[in-house]
Order: sequence, then structure tokens, then C-alpha cells
Amino acid sequence: MERSAAEKIEHAIGDCVASKNWKKVIDLGQALPIDKRVKFLWVWPRQQDLHRIRIGLNDLNISRVISIGCGTGLLEWLITRATGVAVAGVEKDENWWRSKYATKTYIPMMFAEGLSNVIDGQGQLRWHAMMFCYFNDGGAFREYVQEFGGSFVIIIGPAEGRGVHTDPLPFQPNFPAEQNWERVQSFKVGSENLNHLVIYQRQ
Ligand SMILES: C[S@@+](CC[C@H](N)C(=O)[O-])C[C@H]1O[C@@H](n2cnc3c(N)ncnc32)[C@H](O)[C@@H]1O
Repeated sequence: MERSAAEKIEHAIGDCVASKNWKKVIDLGQALPIDKRVKFLWVWPRQQDLHRIRIGLNDLNISRVISIGCGTGLLEWLITRATGVAVAGVEKDENWWRSKYATKTYIPMMFAEGLSNVIDGQGQLRWHAMMFCYFNDGGAFREYVQEFGGSFVIIIGPAEGRGVHTDPLPFQPNFPAEQNWERVQSFKVGSENLNHLVIYQRQ
């Protein structure tokens, strides 16, 4: 049976992931119209964005990141390949993500059931940063951050007032009330002039 356009692009991305060709994955994403791109991930970084992310993470000695609500995990895969920083992913509905209806995923995923050992990592393997990209549940965000023992939170999402809602928003995170986090880095990501990556450090 002939493949649809969407299946062809998914296949092409899968081939590039298998051959670890992250630059080609970026090119494939940039060639797609925005409404098709977001099926794979909400924020498609360009090469220069990944370069900037590498510098930002290195400056803060962040080398292990756990991404909550990672979706397909393609952004996490791209960051890992392009920067060398390990990024693991957490999702919430294991039955869905393992079902035949779910979009293909690109990294090994952990599931939010049984979270306590996931969040803080175990033994030597503590996560330096917890990342949220286009996360959509402010209450869950605060619960995750409350549990987290590491020093950095990374939020990727749209600037406010642009008609796109995420919770948390990168510049209006609404952290747990009793905690104090300071913005230490922020820069734009992607070609849409919409999205920002912001890093907060625990005070
Ligand atoms: C808008 S999607 C963003 C996916 C991906 N980060 C991206 O940028 O393409 C939000 C994701 O967060 C996940 N999510 C929502 N609540 C969650 C929770 N409490 N724990 C883990 N994942 C959650 C959803 O299943 C969904 O895949």
C-alpha cells in the first residue's frame, strides 16, 4: 500500500534517527509546514539553536536533564545528539504511548506512574535539570518541581500574548509558592519567532 505524505516524513525522520543524522532531522522539520511539523514536536530547533543550547547547558554544568511530558522525545533526541547532554523523557499514559495509535517515539521513555524514583534519579544519577517543553498542566508542573532536588528548571514555550497557551509559560512560570527560582538564561528557539528557552536556577 502506498504511504501517505505523513508516513513518508515519519519514515524519513526514523531513518535519520537510526543513522544519528541530527542535522538532516532538523532540515526535514524546517521543510515541513508549521501545522505538520508540530505533529512531531512543538518546538523545532535550528542548528544554531542547538549550538546555543549546548553553550547554555555547558555554562551551567548541566549534563543530565529529565524532560517531563516529552511527547515523541524528538527534541530530547536532538539535544542529546547535538550537545552530548543526556536528556531522558517522562510521559504520563503508558497504555496510550505503547498503543498502535500513538505517534512513534524516539527515546526510551519513563512513565509517570511510580514517579518518586524517576524524578530525583537514583544514586549518582541525579538529574541536574528538569525540562518542560509546551507542558500543559500548571498543577502537575508545580508538583514535579516540588519533588525535584536539582538546581535548574528549563521551560520552553511561546512568549505570552501570542495566542498560544502553555502552562507554565517560559517567562511566567508560577513556581511553587515557597520556592525561589531566578531566571539565569533565556533565548529564542526555532524559526517561527515565537518560542523561547528559559533556564531558572534554584536560589
Ligand atoms: C503539548 S504536549 C508537548 C509534547 C512535547 N514536549 C513537545 O514539545 O512536542 C504536552 C505533553 O505533556 C504530557 N503530560 C501532561 N501531563 C503530564 C504529567 N502529569 N506527567 C507527564 N507528562 C504529562 C502530555 O501527555 C503531552 O504529551
